[in-house]
Amino acid sequence: MCGIVGYTGHENARDIIIDGLKKLEYRGYDSAGIAMQSKGELIVRKQKGKIANLEKTIADEHLYGTTGIGHTRWATHGVPSDLNAHPHVSGDGSIAIVHNGIVENYVELRRQLTEEYGVVFRTDTDSEVIAHLVSVLHKGKLEDAVLEAVKRMKGAYAFAAISKDEPGKIVAFRKDAPLIAGLGRGCNFIASDIPALLKYLNKIYLIENDELVICTPEQIQILDQQKNPVKREVLQVTWSLEDAEKEGYEHFMLKEIHEQPKAIRETLTRRLDENGRIRLDGISLTLEDLEHFNKIYIVACGTAYHAGLVGKYIIEKMARIPVEVDVASEFRYRDPFVDDRTLFIAISQSGETLDTLAALREAKRKGARVLSVVNVVGSSVARESDDVFYTWAGPEIAVASTKAYTTQLICLYLIALYMADLRGTISQSYYQEVLAELQAIPDKVSTIISRAGEIEELAKYLYNRDQVFFIGRGIDSAVAYEGSLKLKEVSYINSFAIAAGELKHGTIALMEPETIVIALATQDFLFDKMYSNIVEVKARMAHVVSIAKEGDEKIREESTEVIYIPRCADEVTPLLSVIPLQLFAYYVARERGEDIDKPRNLAKSVTVE
Ligand code: F6R
Repeated sequence: MCGIVGYTGHENARDIIIDGLKKLEYRGYDSAGIAMQSKGELIVRKQKGKIANLEKTIADEHLYGTTGIGHTRWATHGVPSDLNAHPHVSGDGSIAIVHNGIVENYVELRRQLTEEYGVVFRTDTDSEVIAHLVSVLHKGKLEDAVLEAVKRMKGAYAFAAISKDEPGKIVAFRKDAPLIAGLGRGCNFIASDIPALLKYLNKIYLIENDELVICTPEQIQILDQQKNPVKREVLQVTWSLEDAEKEGYEHFMLKEIHEQPKAIRETLTRRLDENGRIRLDGISLTLEDLEHFNKIYIVACGTAYHAGLVGKYIIEKMARIPVEVDVASEFRYRDPFVDDRTLFIAISQSGETLDTLAALREAKRKGARVLSVVNVVGSSVARESDDVFYTWAGPEIAVASTKAYTTQLICLYLIALYMADLRGTISQSYYQEVLAELQAIPDKVSTIISRAGEIEELAKYLYNRDQVFFIGRGIDSAVAYEGSLKLKEVSYINSFAIAAGELKHGTIALMEPETIVIALATQDFLFDKMYSNIVEVKARMAHVVSIAKEGDEKIREESTEVIYIPRCADEVTPLLSVIPLQLFAYYVARERGEDIDKPRNLAKSVTVE
């Protein structure tokens, strides 16, 4: 998705902004641009393609200015092109803006601006209207023009503007799209995301909806729409620059796979008190609350939704409360049965996914209590929830989610155990057993990662196939969906996941000699059933790669290959079985030479519908 960076200070804004934009490359983009105040004018350079292209183009120019804004664009309205790239500039060249999100009434605004002010539009974007609108309303101060402009704009957006006539000033506004302001030394910043600023500072303000920021080298002012000053706590960012750098790994995806033992440990141990009991910081659920709920909805998108599928199994098994899992884009439009007896759990790495946010609002409107599992502190989902449970995964840069998924699972296990304990639906010995299993997970993940070479070899052998099936039963089927998504998004191989028992109801028709089937067989109590499914596909000459627990020798009889995970309780296998699948997706994509961290057509955080 699009990214915004703005700098005002005493150094050349060009290099600082370009550097900040590079830190946002992971979010996905198709063009980039920069605008700076320079000698009473605005200089604008923008270009389709990578930031490196833009950098090359401007390398020999002596662009200098100490205040500027930059943008990475992910096309929504209008194709990726030099013209449609941001910043957009008003007709008289006095105002430049960069914009994330959507201006829903841009057609109407375009018509008005054309008819009333004779504005000539040069691009196909919705964003261009903002530059013209601010410009025609700009009578004195930029902040007043921006506040007037947003009164006329509908949609979900964040944007930043500079004027050629107000040196050193950046004005930004937020409505339903992320925006932060960063406190530097002798300089200040605005940005859409924290990683853009980590090199320069660790103190930020989270800007809320309908708030305006005025940023100068000396200060950051936050105002509401009536221009009243807003008092905001400074947030100390705990993510380090190293967290957002590759540190010698070939790709962020591989680095983040390797970071999982640490991230899981962090997410888990912060929630255990000195007596080894779960302490749900940020969640205030009481037994009375739990007795009041008659249903839980878990709603999310993509990988986070797959974490929710595991959540259903464990919450229902342990806490004995019915759980429905839904993708946010479906939930929000289907008038679901939600009322004040519903606990709604939103899962989101970024906390900015528009569909998840909209589903959360819909659930809240209907009276549900909202609990969210989120990675980005202060994100929209976090702010709009009644209770927030953070995954301490650190920044996830690769588009394909790995450590966010496993830490989301940890949060769901903790929530399930906590609820079950309060409700008395599990024994104390079971509670302690599962906690011990969870505490052993980081080392077991490290063991699997240390054997990555085996999976790399397998990937070298299988990388050129054009179709892969993932099958599993029970909680394994939830992991099958995630394995399949991982593979298709980074390698572009057509992959398909199905509950193994469903095979014979249609999909088995697709099995032919050498079809690749990845069979998850980690559930002891379902082993025989799963074994039969493996026999079924093997009888059609499929190439079966089984994922099983160490010691399950029988599975070798029918599998072409077996990848073993360390022994553990059935309940916690998803935390281990997904690791070989992440590695498999990674190595297959690498063999195929794909752009692993930034797969085509994908963005890290989907802030549009
Ligand atoms: C896949 C992936 C996506 C996200 C989905 C939700 O690897 O990363 O499927 O899981 O877009 O994003 P968040 O968790 O930020 O709401």
